[in-house]
Amino acid sequence: MYQLVIYLTVLRSCSAVIYSLNETEYNKMPPLYALDEYSSCLLEPGGTYCVADFDLFAEHQSALMDMIQQYSAHKMKHFNHTQIHRGVCVTKTCERFIKDQTNDTADPRQTLEACLNHSIWETYKIQARLNGIRYCKRASDTIDIDTYDVIVAVVYVILIALNVIGSFYDVVFCKKRKKPGNPYLLAFSVSRNWNRLVAPTGTGDPRLERLKLFHGMRTMTMFCVFFSHTVLIMAFAYVNNPLFIEKSYEDPAKQILFNGSLVTHTFFVMSSFLMAFNLQLHAEKHKLGLMQWPKGVLQRWLRLTPTYALVLATISTWMRHLGSGPLWDLVVGSEATACRQYWWAHLLYVNNYVYEDAWCAPQTWYLAADTQLFCFGLLLCVAARSKRARCSALLLTFLASLVILALHTYLQDLEAVVIQSPETYRDLYAQDNTFRLLYIRGHTNLSTYTLGLAGGFFAYYWQSIGKDFTKYKNFRWLFWLCFPLGVLVILSGGLFYTDGARAPTTLRVLYATFYKPVFQALVVMIILGCIFKIDSVYRSVVEWRGFTWAGRVSYSAFLLHTMFQRGLVGSQAQPTHMSDYYVMTVLCATIFLSFSCAVPLWLCVEAPAAAITRAAFASSRDRRDILPEDKDRSDALTDARGEKRDALTASGEWRDIRS
Ligand SMILES: *[C@@H]1O[C@H](CO)[C@@H](O)[C@H](O)[C@H]1NC(C)=O
Ligand SMILES: *[C@@H]1O[C@H](CO)[C@@H](O)[C@H](O)[C@H]1NC(C)=O
Ligand SMILES: *[C@@H]1O[C@H](CO)[C@@H](O)[C@H](O)[C@H]1NC(C)=O
Ligand SMILES: *[C@@H]1O[C@H](CO)[C@@H](O)[C@H](O)[C@H]1NC(C)=O
Repeated sequence: MYQLVIYLTVLRSCSAVIYSLNETEYNKMPPLYALDEYSSCLLEPGGTYCVADFDLFAEHQSALMDMIQQYSAHKMKHFNHTQIHRGVCVTKTCERFIKDQTNDTADPRQTLEACLNHSIWETYKIQARLNGIRYCKRASDTIDIDTYDVIVAVVYVILIALNVIGSFYDVVFCKKRKKPGNPYLLAFSVSRNWNRLVAPTGTGDPRLERLKLFHGMRTMTMFCVFFSHTVLIMAFAYVNNPLFIEKSYEDPAKQILFNGSLVTHTFFVMSSFLMAFNLQLHAEKHKLGLMQWPKGVLQRWLRLTPTYALVLATISTWMRHLGSGPLWDLVVGSEATACRQYWWAHLLYVNNYVYEDAWCAPQTWYLAADTQLFCFGLLLCVAARSKRARCSALLLTFLASLVILALHTYLQDLEAVVIQSPETYRDLYAQDNTFRLLYIRGHTNLSTYTLGLAGGFFAYYWQSIGKDFTKYKNFRWLFWLCFPLGVLVILSGGLFYTDGARAPTTLRVLYATFYKPVFQALVVMIILGCIFKIDSVYRSVVEWRGFTWAGRVSYSAFLLHTMFQRGLVGSQAQPTHMSDYYVMTVLCATIFLSFSCAVPLWLCVEAPAAAITRAAFASSRDRRDILPEDKDRSDALTDARGEKRDALTASGEWRDIRS
């Protein structure tokens, strides 16, 4: 308690502690990033271009070096300016320092160091030492198309062919002759899949129709995720005004972005909510048994994996060939290498536990964590079948999850929130313990998942007893408060961006334990409020019809969006100049490209895979068993329950599959 009081006093007088520079002084430092001309460098015969990091130092007293060191010491909000990053055309910029043409371009370390040291010394009177070469590109380098590229190309061709055949089969044989047809071929019918994509939510069952808010929530949460990744990937590469990032910590509006990662966990809540709700609908007509667990897990794997595998394969093969530039290998090539190494961990959904410092599709930690939690949640639901057993199981799990969070934070001495410091962007959090050990793991996200499960159980229960919510209409303001309160919770993370001292352990542990559940409890309240029509303000937004298709393709869009962002940043020939306007433009481009490319991906891969899974499970079992249908949608990123079946029933296809 005493610590807390001291901390809060420090908070109030914080601005005095920080070492800050005005812009004139700031510009006295050597630029953090710079890139030589790339394409003209490689046009010359023997041209060599290297991307490398250099450490600055001074042998004798240097006021400038002291200033750089003092400024960099403030790790939380400043880049480490004692290390500079350069793309250098060795054969042109460093021509004077090349002693032996063959040896010095083959191993340019000495040349680079002498050259950079010279130019830094000339201007700043401090020295530079080579820290490491990221890579060198040579005029003679050719980009080879290897076996994997060919295999993936063949897969593309097969997929396109299947879709063409399936669509023709549908039009020529089934529609004309009004025959049921082969469900496996019909799975690839683009026109049927299109009808599913644009169909309204859950026509028929009023209970399912009430779930349409999930499309809106999914889409809007996805926009938030795209937003944070846009900023992240820019700060990951070369920026010509790092001061823009460093200054943004002082801007309260941008604190929403820094702590906005909280919003990501909404996916866990939606996922578990739908799972709990669907499972109970399913249990109305079927007996729940332990055997449903492996089946449910297998179905989820079959539904998510084909699209995922195709995107990972594209990242590790053809994406590499799509562009070039000084930063291409840093931003795009490095991911391809990592994916070739760790693809198995992704396909087993354990990539949030297994990795080294190389990142393959880092955003997919969410898929792994969600799958792990799904396995746990489904087991809990099929094991605890009575109302009482479920209540106590949920309560116990929730308490356990809080203890897990507190223990991790305390024992591993973690931060309360993932501190978005500039240097952590540079390696996409690979060195950040709070991110690696707490943020992305499955078991540490259990608390929010449990809240979603509870929400799903309550929603079903209240629907089944026909609970009347009209008498609560007077408390609508409480419901309206949820959103502003949520924003407040997000902003409260700013507490941990103070300059003076590190937050005391008590505060860190308490905050880390409770901030996610508190925020997600508000989300669950909004979900329940919309389902039971407590108000129509939020509801009219999230239930907008236009979100229906976007919500359905959001899984594909999620998988695709970083490819566009990396492609854009990686093909820059000069360090990016960041500004609010530029970030917004790139965000809009990301949204547009991801969602419009997600539609073909959904039509040609995701929907057929789901239909095939459905057909396989329907034919191998009792026809009346519609378990595949039910589980099919127990994931936040794919459809909400009911839509596929109802869309199918409407077109007569549902009967086809079963006969
Ligand atoms: C920046 O700070 C230096 C030293 O503190 C001072 O001499 C200079 O006038 C300042 N420049 C501006 C633009 O405020
Ligand atoms: C900055 O980078 C240098 C070189 O990698 C390192 O020695 C130094 O400790 C870093 N400074 C801070 C404040 O992290
Ligand atoms: C260049 O490298 C070769 C083989 O490593 C070595 O024999 C030769 O002495 C080197 N030349 C110079 C000038 O360093
Ligand atoms: C950098 O250049 C200066 C001036 O030419 C020289 O005195 C110093 O030894 C060089 N340092 C390194 C690390 O090469």
